[in-house]
Amino acid sequence: MAQQVQGVVAMAKGEPVSMQTINIPDPGPGEAVVAIQACGVCHTDLHYREGGINDEFPFLLGHEAAGVVESIGEGVNQVVVGDYVILNWRAVCGQCRSCLKGKPQYCFNTHNAAQKMTLEDGTELSPALGIGAFCEKTLVAAGQCTKVDRDAKPEVAGLLGCGVMAGIGAAINTGEVSRGDTVAVFGCGGVGNAAIEGSRIAGASKIIAVDIDDAKLELAKSFGATHTVNSLETDPVESIRGFTDGNGVDVAIEAIGLPQTYEQAFYSRDLAGTVVLVGVPHPEMKIELPYIELFGRGGALKSSWYGDCLPSRDFPMLIDLYLQGRLNLEGFVSETIELDAVEEAFRKMEGGGVLRSVVVL
Ligand code: APR
Ligand code: ZN
Ligand code: ZN
Repeated sequence: MAQQVQGVVAMAKGEPVSMQTINIPDPGPGEAVVAIQACGVCHTDLHYREGGINDEFPFLLGHEAAGVVESIGEGVNQVVVGDYVILNWRAVCGQCRSCLKGKPQYCFNTHNAAQKMTLEDGTELSPALGIGAFCEKTLVAAGQCTKVDRDAKPEVAGLLGCGVMAGIGAAINTGEVSRGDTVAVFGCGGVGNAAIEGSRIAGASKIIAVDIDDAKLELAKSFGATHTVNSLETDPVESIRGFTDGNGVDVAIEAIGLPQTYEQAFYSRDLAGTVVLVGVPHPEMKIELPYIELFGRGGALKSSWYGDCLPSRDFPMLIDLYLQGRLNLEGFVSETIELDAVEEAFRKMEGGGVLRSVVVL
């Protein structure tokens, strides 16, 4: 039987979000209904509300979530009813040219639920990133559910579904940070601090955090930054060279999405070093770099989609590290809030005071 639940919806561009009654269909073939236990508030939810992603209003927001599988449709074999899962927004298809090449993390045809959740009057909803988890229950493709150890609290586990995974993955998957490497991270929000945390668990010898906000730099130290640079006060490229015997870092990670900080990352790396872009630029931005430096310094300039993660490989592994006390995920949870406080959480996010507000249901 289809059911009705409460959820947080962005009805129109720029308007405050509101609580709405949502119809959740029974899961069809390949689908699952998940009872949401927690969901983090991410910048992408705010971008949806502002019309910055597309115009397919109304949006059912929320996408950094953990919960329990309530029901499954025909042919679902990834999960069973009762599994404790983290939701991902890149359920791989297994059949596109990237999947067939053995690189499912780049899948070019990721999928979501085929059926639509709707408002009470039947208006179809667009779930944020194909999830829509600021809601008591949501309908997803079963491949969007990754089972993890239920000992991990939902408000912590859910964060791996988006920003924290993007940052950790930028370091360990895309940047391939390994034991002894030196790393610089530009931007110490949720994503940048996760890149710092990822570098720490990978065994980096120096982790240099760059931001323009001293409070963020203090947080960065709590995640494992060994050095900090306030780039309003000091030239970050010179400081980073100073911390690395004049050489620059093995891996420079840009977690803001600005041309000037990308350039700083570019000039901060050592010969044969790697630059990783995980911040998301605006479409109109351009960068200009001396061509000879691209060739002459060697190494690699890489971008990181969702931390190049493979949920089935990375979510359970990171949850295990967390449960062993080796990965600080709790530090990302600035506050837990009720479902009806998402709009207020957006304002706090714009103020810059929090890493993550997490809705607990
Ligand atoms: N130089 C250095 N730091 C900066 C600058 C700058 N010019 N501008 C902003 N920052 C810092 C902010 O002070 C903040 O600490 O970058 C950080 C950005 O953090 P958040 O706004 O919390 O963003 P976050 O959620 O971490 O996402 C960062 O990654 O996934 C993408 O879309 C996301 O582009 C965004 C980026
Ligand atoms: Zn694929
Ligand atoms: Zn997100």
